[in-house]
Amino acid sequence: MQMKEYKPLIVAFCCNWCSYAGADLAGNNRLNYPADVKIIRVPCSCRVNPMFILRAFQRGADGVILCGCHPGDCHYTSGNYYTRRRMAMLFSMLDYLGIERERTRVEWVSAAEGAKFAATMNDFVAQVTALGENKRLEDLRCKR
Ligand code: FES
Repeated sequence: MQMKEYKPLIVAFCCNWCSYAGADLAGNNRLNYPADVKIIRVPCSCRVNPMFILRAFQRGADGVILCGCHPGDCHYTSGNYYTRRRMAMLFSMLDYLGIERERTRVEWVSAAEGAKFAATMNDFVAQVTALGENKRLEDLRCKR
């Protein structure tokens, strides 16, 4: 019997104005990143409630990455500052719950950084692959 290769399911929340455009640029430049990355486009990184991230884990995601504009460049002026604070709180909550912090990441990617977007996704997927499946927060009722 042949073992099936493990491929993590990664959810990437990308803000419309920078990171999503960065992902687009990566695609236009034919830069590769794994197809296991499922992008969810949001108006601003601050639109992502930390509960969305926990819910993604519950629904079977192995890793969640949140990408937004660089600090000071947010289309809505200060949205990513709120994101930064919220994510710091989420990270300490994940520590408290015993969930590997490496399963979650925040990255600032501008519209001109297609190469950074692809490199970040490749790195994150490799990191989550090394951690293996997310079993801690997975809701068995949502099992694929
Ligand atoms: Fe990109 Fe706010 S619009 S982080």
